[in-house]
Amino acid sequence: MSADASAAAAVPAPKVNPNAPTEETVLSVEHYTDRLFRFRITRPQSFRFRTGEFVMIGLPKEDGKPLLRAYSIASPAWDEELEFYSIKVPDGPLTSRLQSIQPGDKVLLGKKPTGTLVLDALTPGKRLYMFSTGTGFAPFASLIRDPETYERYNEVIVTHTCRDVAELTYSRNLVNDLVNDPLVGEMVEGKLRLYASTTREPYACMGRITTLIETGKLFADLGVPPLNPETDRAMICGSMEMIQDVKALMIAAGLTEGSNAAPAEFVIEKAFAG
Ligand code: A2P
Repeated sequence: MSADASAAAAVPAPKVNPNAPTEETVLSVEHYTDRLFRFRITRPQSFRFRTGEFVMIGLPKEDGKPLLRAYSIASPAWDEELEFYSIKVPDGPLTSRLQSIQPGDKVLLGKKPTGTLVLDALTPGKRLYMFSTGTGFAPFASLIRDPETYERYNEVIVTHTCRDVAELTYSRNLVNDLVNDPLVGEMVEGKLRLYASTTREPYACMGRITTLIETGKLFADLGVPPLNPETDRAMICGSMEMIQDVKALMIAAGLTEGSNAAPAEFVIEKAFAG
């Protein structure tokens, strides 16, 4: 045995981390405003998730250590690609770089999707509300494209509140285009409604979702009865403050918070950013 060969044999084989993120390819990128964009990436065949869950997404860092942040998966579980809807934070460690990705670039995808904004965390009901602000719409972009949502509920109401009209582009386009979707097109007709509002620019409907619930304007506009724990289920996704405020209104209406382990009448999740 040569000296070289024995030295090589003494070096332990590099440990392969089975949970290490996989490297995926960016397929498309669409910018909506200077604060918002979406991107689609390849999905490994082995990557399984439940519609509404989030996963770690990131970029390799120059020093070799990956930089990862939690992102709601905006595409449904049946989609061959993965879609994400992201904020651009100018000095955000990840999004300041992620916002300049181009088709063909590589991003890192975590292996363990998880989350509470899943249909199984709610007990059966008739009407599903999805309350979102800003990028909190992302998990609902996934859920409204999943046939199971319409199999479980007679009525699906997704609310999206943003500062200005341009920030509603992603949700409005997605919902408008859904009637032409070969898989859920027929299911959404008459069942899905988007209730969009702005808070800082004039629009047909204005106001924070909390105010629209409290004043009853939301229910009057939609022609539905007030929140009722017997019929209504809710999912909430937005900033920490928004979640706490909407959650308080759900509790006041008699709804109980659920989880994967103990399904109930509403579930919450923070919209991720950074
Ligand atoms: P506002 O313009 O009154 O702050 P952001 O882009 O900052 O994440 O906000 C998204 C939307 O969420 C904005 O329309 C904002 O309204 C609204 N919002 C912020 N905080 C709350 C809250 N605590 N409850 C309900 N809506 C909120």
